[in-house]
Amino acid sequence: CGIVGYIGNKQAQDVLLHGMSKLEYRGYDSSGIAVFNDGDVTIKKTVGRLANLAELVDGPDRITGSQGIGHTRWATHGRPSDENAHPHQDQTGNFTIVHNGIIENYIPIREELIAKGHVFLSETDSEVVAHLLEELWTGDLFETVLLVNKRLHGAYALGIMSKYEPGKLIAVRKQSPLIIGLGQDENFIASDIPAILEYTRNVYILEDGEMAVLTQDSVKTFDLAGNPTEKNVYEVTWSASAAEKGGYEHFMLKEIHEQPKAIRDTLTGRISEDGQRVVFDEIQWPENFAQNIDRIHIVACGTSWHAGMVGAAALEKLTRIPVSCEIASEYRYRDPIITENTLMIIITQSGETADTLAALREAKARGTRVVAITNVVGSSAAREADDVVFTWAGPEISVASTKAYTTQLISLYLFAGWLAEQRGSVGATQVPEILAALRELPELAEKALGTSDEVKAFANEWASKEHAFFIGRGLDYAVSLEGSLKLKEISYMHAEAYAAGELKHGTLALIVEDVPVVALVTQDDLYDKTLSNIIEVKTRDAYVLGIAWEDDKEIAKSVDRVIRIPRTLPFLAPVLAVIPLQLLAYYASTARGNDVDNPRNLAKSVTVE
Ligand code: G6P
Repeated sequence: CGIVGYIGNKQAQDVLLHGMSKLEYRGYDSSGIAVFNDGDVTIKKTVGRLANLAELVDGPDRITGSQGIGHTRWATHGRPSDENAHPHQDQTGNFTIVHNGIIENYIPIREELIAKGHVFLSETDSEVVAHLLEELWTGDLFETVLLVNKRLHGAYALGIMSKYEPGKLIAVRKQSPLIIGLGQDENFIASDIPAILEYTRNVYILEDGEMAVLTQDSVKTFDLAGNPTEKNVYEVTWSASAAEKGGYEHFMLKEIHEQPKAIRDTLTGRISEDGQRVVFDEIQWPENFAQNIDRIHIVACGTSWHAGMVGAAALEKLTRIPVSCEIASEYRYRDPIITENTLMIIITQSGETADTLAALREAKARGTRVVAITNVVGSSAAREADDVVFTWAGPEISVASTKAYTTQLISLYLFAGWLAEQRGSVGATQVPEILAALRELPELAEKALGTSDEVKAFANEWASKEHAFFIGRGLDYAVSLEGSLKLKEISYMHAEAYAAGELKHGTLALIVEDVPVVALVTQDDLYDKTLSNIIEVKTRDAYVLGIAWEDDKEIAKSVDRVIRIPRTLPFLAPVLAVIPLQLLAYYASTARGNDVDNPRNLAKSVTVE
């Protein structure tokens, strides 16, 4: 989500709408503003893109006033709707807030406040903040915000104003990003720099656990205990368009680099405190359903299908239930064998892919239970499936999917572990070890991003080639499929992924001198087998790039170049191995001068069959 706040001498509505338009990349399913006018606060909010809100406050419906807060939403708790759009107020209307992030303990707080007579109007976690302000009100806004903060768990950023103290805005940052824009007789709050660049280039970047009190002509910062903090003014030198991409040249590169955070967010709340069990409170199955499942169909398209291939392997390994992973456009027309004990899992970033939705509807019509793994709350998939597992990747703008894929993998690993626990499968004993390794992945993904310069140098050399092959066995083959798709999509090089052992049955005829081959070797139990396939292609003088563990001492002898990824369980290797492949596709694409974020002929979400 994106937060904007303004206090100054301009019309707040104009500044807020402008700022929000620059934050739409953070979310765009609903939006709203609250403006102080004549001692009162007027709120306008609506579901849909920002244009809907602009229409709502146009002409005679303009809200005049020079202090306000605004929000563009990417739904997490509560579907996109007018009620769930921000800003939110308590029932007295004395406190108005906008919120970005997740308040993990909102359910008990909400219950407590309802018992005390508070009336909630939305399904969001955010609304509890406004009610808590009312409940804990001491007569001083700053003091009350400190008390409220003590009650909230999670990662969040807040913009707050109160009718009791006009002329003041409070901003709070706990993990979720927040900056303060410093102007002349005006000051700003924003989730990100692009929102305020039109007005000022001087900002304070709030640290985690810091808050700010803004008036028209002053900004004071504090820690969450209320002690003043010292800030340096940071002068922004980026262009407005670079700022929107967080300083990265393209959304794809930004999204590749957001993976550590996206993985961490997807894991949040899904591992029990003792680290032993998977928590999936969102799944509500009839009694005995988990025990009775006799087959699982995973259905998806594109990158989501590739995530499904890894998911199928993970599910079979941990649960020993037979799993098939299929392309949605094939599945729906082939009269699949479905019984009442079949579980269907659809994977879709957007939740709107026509073929995937058609497969979902087909299965539901036959009485199958469907779990959707999706990134978009309120999407068709989320609404129509029986159960939903959200990937918390945040909005993905670039057509080529990156952080959605890795968070789909994380969700599938968790789901496989959870199902094994539900059924008491032998695989359940491995869950604690897997969870411990999953927790390390954000940090290891950060390390894997450290291969960027190396990959870039290599991609520049490679970019003139017309063909490339990706090979691997087991999970490495599944990742090869994704690496090859990424390269095709955005560099327009012809690429093929092959199960390494299958090369000799035809494709080897295409391996001649200098043909690029990317060989993945992360599956220790298949290591020797893959190595002999590498030697097959080396013997034909292919140019081989190995993707291998950091501690692999053998591989350098058999390939031309090695990109190394940090060690984790081979079972989880896809999450890390895909990162250099994403970077390879990205840099090959930029070397060729392509439009990385909007490749030719492709769309982010394909809503036609
Ligand atoms: C399109 C996109 C791909 C995506 C596929 C499935 O083809 O370009 O990046 O993997 O759709 O999308 P979904 O939203 O269902 O995951």
